Amino acid sequence: MLKTISSLDFEGQKVLLRLDLNAPISNGQIQDDTRLQAALPTIKFLSENGAKVLILTHLGRPKGEIVESLRVDIIASALSKLLSKDVNKLDDCVDEVVKKQIDEMDFGDIVLLENTRFHPEEKLNDPEFSKELASLADIFVNDAFGVVHRSHASTLGVTEHLPSYAGFLLEKEIEVLSDILKAPQTPVCLIMGGAKIDTKIGVLEKFLDKADSFLIGGALANTFIAAKGFEVGTSLFQEDKVDVAKDFMSKCEATFIPVDFVVSEEISKDAVARNLLQNEATSNDKILDIGPKTIDVFLEKIASAKTIIWNGPMGLYEFDQFAKGTLAIAQAVADSDAISVVGGGDSIDAIKNFNIPLDAFTHVSTGGGAMLEFLEGKPLPALQALMS
Ligand code: 3PG
Repeated sequence: MLKTISSLDFEGQKVLLRLDLNAPISNGQIQDDTRLQAALPTIKFLSENGAKVLILTHLGRPKGEIVESLRVDIIASALSKLLSKDVNKLDDCVDEVVKKQIDEMDFGDIVLLENTRFHPEEKLNDPEFSKELASLADIFVNDAFGVVHRSHASTLGVTEHLPSYAGFLLEKEIEVLSDILKAPQTPVCLIMGGAKIDTKIGVLEKFLDKADSFLIGGALANTFIAAKGFEVGTSLFQEDKVDVAKDFMSKCEATFIPVDFVVSEEISKDAVARNLLQNEATSNDKILDIGPKTIDVFLEKIASAKTIIWNGPMGLYEFDQFAKGTLAIAQAVADSDAISVVGGGDSIDAIKNFNIPLDAFTHVSTGGGAMLEFLEGKPLPALQALMS
């Protein structure tokens, strides 16, 4: 059973709180603060219950070096605004200076430590580095669902040295996704988009006996279209995974791939879009969205489903002429009375761009890869470490 925080006493404790505050940032602005918002209940709970709250997060993939644009100052300011409380940013996540600054904090105070991934030891789950992180605190709380599939020092290593618990967000994510795996209400409709088959095939296989329809869109679908022997032109697809797609379709009659699509010869804001049937693409075409006939097929499956799991957009939703497929799917899932779980940064970004409220879905997961790996049933050591 997951060890949780609601009945613990944090008064006078130093708590190392691992969050996933890896938000998209562009031109010095946070583009989407969903992950920050989702982290607030645990931060508030710990602070209001008298702990020194020491927040750890990664930001981007700095490859073990200091990258100025990936410092977490902007995240600290945003958290501070959301909490209406000072959140000081410390300049590192380990060392004597950090320890001294923590000693000087009052109980109830909150600090954000610098990007864990500036240290190469983080991703290596280095035992010494884990010990150093752990030495900052008395208790470890992991509320970072988005990195629960990563066995890093700040997600796994520290659990060897501190009593470790799951925060409210992690608890909720695991509860919702476990229910879906255990006893989903049927019919189950799995909608997979995005680019790569590698990250999705495990979930598709896992749901072979559980789902009633598998709707495949996005660049992922191009690999399936190629597996059917149709031209995909200059579309993004995984040539070396065509056999994987072929094998899956041979096992699963309920696989629905695009019967038509929207193509263009270029990717740009002004690109001219054309609708083609599945067998009509030429060597110059890029497939950039699902077409109207495919939308009709997908909507029919969504309408009859009682459980819907969706990960990954249907096309290049950033440009209006290639956004119709993703919009139609997003709206249909939002309007459905089924239990609906959506994950993956791009799907959520699309939903927000379309101004569809997130509360129209039963659960919007803060994890992309983590949600897929959990649903796939892969062992997640950082999660196992929080079990009693
Ligand atoms: C994410 O954005 O999905 C998480 O923060 C994990 O990031 P990572 O794939 O760089 O580990």
